Amino acid sequence: MARLLVTGGAGFIGVNFVHHWLAAHPGQRVVVLDALTYAGNLKSLEPVRGRPELRFEHGNICDTERVAALLREERLDTIVHFAAESHVDRSIHGPDAFVETNVVGTHALLKAARTVWIKEQGTAAHRFHHVSTDEVYGSLEADDPAFHERTPYAPSSPYSASKAASDHLVRAYHCTFGLNVTTSNCSNNYGPYHFPEKLIPLMIVNILEGRALPVYGDGRNVRDWLHVTDHCRGIELILARGSPGEVYNIGGGQECANIDLVRTLCGIVDQRLAADGGLRERFPACPAARGERCESLITFVADRPGHDRRYAIDCGKIERALGYRARLALDAGLRQTFDWYVSNEPWWRTVLDGSYQSWIQTHYSPVATPASGVARTTGPS
Ligand SMILES: NC(=O)c1ccc[n+]([C@@H]2O[C@H](COP(=O)([O-])OP(=O)(O)OC[C@H]3O[C@@H](n4cnc5c(N)ncnc54)[C@H](O)[C@@H]3O)[C@@H](O)[C@H]2O)c1
Repeated sequence: MARLLVTGGAGFIGVNFVHHWLAAHPGQRVVVLDALTYAGNLKSLEPVRGRPELRFEHGNICDTERVAALLREERLDTIVHFAAESHVDRSIHGPDAFVETNVVGTHALLKAARTVWIKEQGTAAHRFHHVSTDEVYGSLEADDPAFHERTPYAPSSPYSASKAASDHLVRAYHCTFGLNVTTSNCSNNYGPYHFPEKLIPLMIVNILEGRALPVYGDGRNVRDWLHVTDHCRGIELILARGSPGEVYNIGGGQECANIDLVRTLCGIVDQRLAADGGLRERFPACPAARGERCESLITFVADRPGHDRRYAIDCGKIERALGYRARLALDAGLRQTFDWYVSNEPWWRTVLDGSYQSWIQTHYSPVATPASGVARTTGPS
């Protein structure tokens, strides 16, 4: 029976992982530690609120003492580390937060894990799983082979550079101090609870609202899309059977140029609204509500600096070693994701219109943030 600390468990992938884990492993303790930055959303944990296994802690991964206190108090033996600043565009405008959370924060967690699990408890029965990105490998040309676990690092943005630094620290704590670590480098995720600043949820919301669909450059940047549920299953396999010190790439095996992805989404919305008068009434600004094609909203905008051209993941290692297979094809995954956003309109409306902040005030008590020690719990518990 694992006892988990999930950092960043109120963010997109972390919250999907918490839902997945609680469904697959009922009775196992899960403590979520999240600073609730703009990207963290307690509403995403609402469906599991009240589960006795779950505790939410509002706190910062940079607080080593507090993390160590949590590990001791809850007798946690596993850290699944999602917490990060994760948006490339934001890292171009303000890199400092990325170094602070992704590098200093990851190091703070490693120090806490080493102190409690190795120095105090001297136990080998622990695991620090670090969630990283394929962006650490840099950019591929059209006919380059996909990234594998030994591809040299060549990060292009402050985001990917900070993730690369954290990957090296995790590896060093294994080699130097004997911490049982595993790392996964995954491709672009998509699915439910995705903050609508990232490509797919931004496009879905803008299509429904009849707003422009901004596509960088010529739109030919290629990403390997991974449904978040497949990613969560990959991490679950690594926790169960991965070898300490190993790195596993996780991909969806579904390369797609951004412009093709946006056109596919437009086609899905065209079809859904053509077939459903209720949706046409709910989203009157959507071109499909008037029988027009959503593609008309596509607008090409100036490319971002250092924009990597192509990412592709070779996930042969995790397939061979752990039996991983991505299950959700991109088209089916996009349809499922579109349906989730349509069915969960209040979730994204509160994120976009700022009412999430007032919702949180009425549903959750304010949180004390002591310099160290375990703060009182708020929110889902
Ligand atoms: N989203 C993707 O496509 C993708 C792809 C590859 C790798 N990753 C990695 O997966 C992880 C999760 O990504 P995501 O998309 O869910 O990110 P996200 O931005 O949606 O969520 C990040 C979460 O971390 C929390 N957080 C930020 N700083 C914190 C701090 N100092 N202390 C505690 N909590 C803090 C935020 O409040 C938020 O809940 C990240 O490490 C990211 O680098 C993401």
